[in-house]
Amino acid sequence: MASLTVRKLDDAIKAQLRLRSAQNGRSVEEEVRVILREYLDGRPLAARQPPLEAPAPEALNERGANRARVTLIVGGGIAAYKALELIRRLKEWDIRVRCVLTKAATQFVTPLSASALSGERAYTDLFDPDSEFDAGHIRLARDCELILVAPATADLMSKMAHGAADDLASAILLAAGRPILLAPAMNPMMWSNAATRRNAVQLLQDGIAFVGPNAGEMAESGEAGVGRMAEPSEIADATERVLRPRAPRPLFGKRVLITAGPTHEPIDPVRYIANRSSGKQGFAIAAAAEAAGAEVVLVSGPVELDDPKGVSVVHVESARDMLHKVEAALPVDIAIFAAAVADWRVAREGEQKLKKTAGAATPQLALVENPDILATISRLRERRPALVIGFAAETEHLIDNAKAKLKRKGCDWIVANDVSTATGVMGGERNTVHLLTRHGSDIKVASWPVMTKEQVALELVAEVAKRFGKGVGSGS
Ligand code: C5P
Repeated sequence: MASLTVRKLDDAIKAQLRLRSAQNGRSVEEEVRVILREYLDGRPLAARQPPLEAPAPEALNERGANRARVTLIVGGGIAAYKALELIRRLKEWDIRVRCVLTKAATQFVTPLSASALSGERAYTDLFDPDSEFDAGHIRLARDCELILVAPATADLMSKMAHGAADDLASAILLAAGRPILLAPAMNPMMWSNAATRRNAVQLLQDGIAFVGPNAGEMAESGEAGVGRMAEPSEIADATERVLRPRAPRPLFGKRVLITAGPTHEPIDPVRYIANRSSGKQGFAIAAAAEAAGAEVVLVSGPVELDDPKGVSVVHVESARDMLHKVEAALPVDIAIFAAAVADWRVAREGEQKLKKTAGAATPQLALVENPDILATISRLRERRPALVIGFAAETEHLIDNAKAKLKRKGCDWIVANDVSTATGVMGGERNTVHLLTRHGSDIKVASWPVMTKEQVALELVAEVAKRFGKGVGSGS
């Protein structure tokens, strides 16, 4: 592609770009590429990570007794009502939340609801005799691993940028010895105002991280633009990313596409052809790849599972939908096709429900072949992922069939598993797999012991990381 030079970028944007790229460990050019790709794909811009040192690993662990603690400062804007949902989301990540409400925030949410949801006292006053006898604002600033401000109003941002400390929230922010994550929310005119831009740049330069704001409709009727607070789940995910101890992230910088679940092939508006796939294995791989630092897109057929945290999930029904969404997710570095895609669909889908009419002949369903997503992606010339992995679910001659499949589909690896009814793999918790890897014309087979689907996922991700020269022990 032709190279692109952008002249006359204003200094504020240049400063932001330099900071973003430094925070994400990329060159400025690469950062611009990522931003353009996200923008063109319609994905929200990724939360910027604070450059501050992560909390000491011993202070936290992901789910254990040393649960991470967050001081959540709720600013006074209409988005404050979402702070209550945010508390719930943070608790889903097993994060302890202690709330501080500005005076203006109490116009929108009550300290009582914040404390009921967080299970801790909610604080509002700088000069509160109950907490200030032991310098409460200092404690609130330090007795946590992260200070989160949601919504961060224009006023709070201005106070922070100028070092004001005339109420409890701003005093905590000034006294903070911890990373700070802001989720701004304000009217688009306020967000684009030169004063707010200056403050935002200043705060970025001070090492403060942002999630959002997003583009969208405002509470004020008929107004739209950039200024909407990021959704609570997005803020909770960004918080978790900042808090998570620096585990090895061998797939950092890699984009991984995964398919999972069955497909539903419609017969008529109420009936469909399906299979018994639960999607558990594909979902477990998505979670493992995300934990390994990859940017993960999961294209899933209909399943009964919750979306894995931190993964972009695209829900589809049929094989054709799935192919379409897989193609839309390209380019990726690694593609793992764990979905049990229906081989056939009904040639002519009934527009109305097929009727059982007394005396009439039983309907005959003519089938046509579905696109083979794995083979289609494996054969791409330009956008082929560097590593394409398929699954072979077989009920007999497992290895021989899997070897044949590896060649026929043109992928690089196959994870072969025996899905005959006696194994209980379909819908079950465990899996016994063999990993077939192609080395020129040679195929190596590694047989793994019986494992849970989560363990299979971790092993597979570890093998992928090795293939890219990064053992699980190596960081990013
Ligand atoms: O169904 P089959 O045994 O051919 O599936 C093998 C692999 O091919 C799996 O990885 C599956 O996800 C993929 N596949 C696909 N599109 C199809 C059929 C299978 O991507 N139409």
